[in-house]
Amino acid sequence: MDITKLFLKHNMRLTPEAEEYLRHLSEEKIKEIALSLIEKNKIFVSLDDVKPKKEKKVVVIRSSFKDVPAREYSSSFKIYEDKDITGKSRASGKFEDFVELIRDRFRRTSSILRNKITNYQTLTLKKINDSHMENEKVKVIVIVSNKRMTKKGNMLLDVEDETDTGRILILPSDQRLFNEANTITYDAIIGVEGTVYKGMVIADRIVWPDIPFNHKLKPIDEPMSIMYLSDTHIGSKLFLDNIFQEVIDWLKKGEGIAGNIKYVCFAGDIVDGVGIYPKQENELVIKDIYEQYEIFRKYLEQFPDYIEAFVIPGNHDAVRRAQPQPRIPKELINMNGNVHFLGDPAWIKIENFLHLLYHGDALDSVIASIPGLDYKQPERAMVEVVKRRHLSPIYGTNPIVPEKKDYLMIDEVPDIVNMGHLHRNGVTKYRDVYHICSGTFQLKTEYQAKFGHVPTPGVVTVFDMKSLNIKNVDFYEGG
Ligand SMILES: [Fe+2]
Repeated sequence: MDITKLFLKHNMRLTPEAEEYLRHLSEEKIKEIALSLIEKNKIFVSLDDVKPKKEKKVVVIRSSFKDVPAREYSSSFKIYEDKDITGKSRASGKFEDFVELIRDRFRRTSSILRNKITNYQTLTLKKINDSHMENEKVKVIVIVSNKRMTKKGNMLLDVEDETDTGRILILPSDQRLFNEANTITYDAIIGVEGTVYKGMVIADRIVWPDIPFNHKLKPIDEPMSIMYLSDTHIGSKLFLDNIFQEVIDWLKKGEGIAGNIKYVCFAGDIVDGVGIYPKQENELVIKDIYEQYEIFRKYLEQFPDYIEAFVIPGNHDAVRRAQPQPRIPKELINMNGNVHFLGDPAWIKIENFLHLLYHGDALDSVIASIPGLDYKQPERAMVEVVKRRHLSPIYGTNPIVPEKKDYLMIDEVPDIVNMGHLHRNGVTKYRDVYHICSGTFQLKTEYQAKFGHVPTPGVVTVFDMKSLNIKNVDFYEGG
């Protein structure tokens, strides 16, 4: 029996895994499965579709939501167009543009730092170097160009500001300070308080741009929620189409907390893309980028019409790879009404909550560079990014387009930061700012397995804007 032919006759395409599985079944059983899939109007048939499912439990966490559906409320949101690169890219890629980009970042981060270093004025490195001062207390704002250990076990930072270069020494005798200094990465822009000694500054205190302690979330009066998800990777043979459909059906049914979801944020990697890495075609069930977005459009069309959705691209989407990224082009996907395609990063005020959406390309280098971080707790890497007030704090680890202004700066303090990319769900609150790392709808890839990643497929995060509670809803139960 030609299994592929049988399925093709009914316009269904089998993945190699599905075909392999069916090969071991009786003809009668294969026909029975084919029949059930015809009824479901399946086009792409994965292993998940043909294999009998184990009992799947949708964990809908009990909540204090009132029984008033979000559809009764009108939407209130503002997209910050000036913070979105879409249609504004003017970069020529010249050397001077890169210098200007770093200068812009240095000036804007310095002004955040200056507000925190209040006691007395900061000095420039040139002033310190020219004055030949000795044993005097100073405060400086610098960018770190190099970090190394001396033979005596001290940490030495080569630093710069806009006037000169200098060196900062951190002694291991102050263990707390030394541990903190360990988290300094290349290109960190920090404030340092210390004492001048032989042309160096011996640090007493490191000041991060960070976010203020007095930040407070303001709840709304109505029982409305926002759902966060990312990394659907449509087109990949590991995309969990059934599970994603379950989420949509749950929204459509609108029971319990699903009925209160008024907004949805997608933090990138909507599709798996084409030609993203060598031999990707072997991992794809849909090899046409237009078709991948068309399937996403069909999913979006099923969303209840009272839901506003915000979609940014990721490194798998069909936009330039370097950041900041413009919106996914209209030629690939165009929807009017309640679906808003934005650049990466994007800033949106949803009701009372200022959102910063960023796919998260820089999280890999942040995890690799800061001791104590790992892929199991992506939300901790997000906090480190926000503390540095820059979405890609280590220059050169992921491609950046030198625009005239640095779109990756976190100038304002967001209420909610939402990223994806790491395929692992994680939520934390840091100084009253929620950090949400969305999971994925793709099973673990070979690449991820090699690096020991443990994805959390099929989990969405729901934030209740009235109670300020945040919950995960697991549609896959860990696989
Ligand atoms: Fe992804």
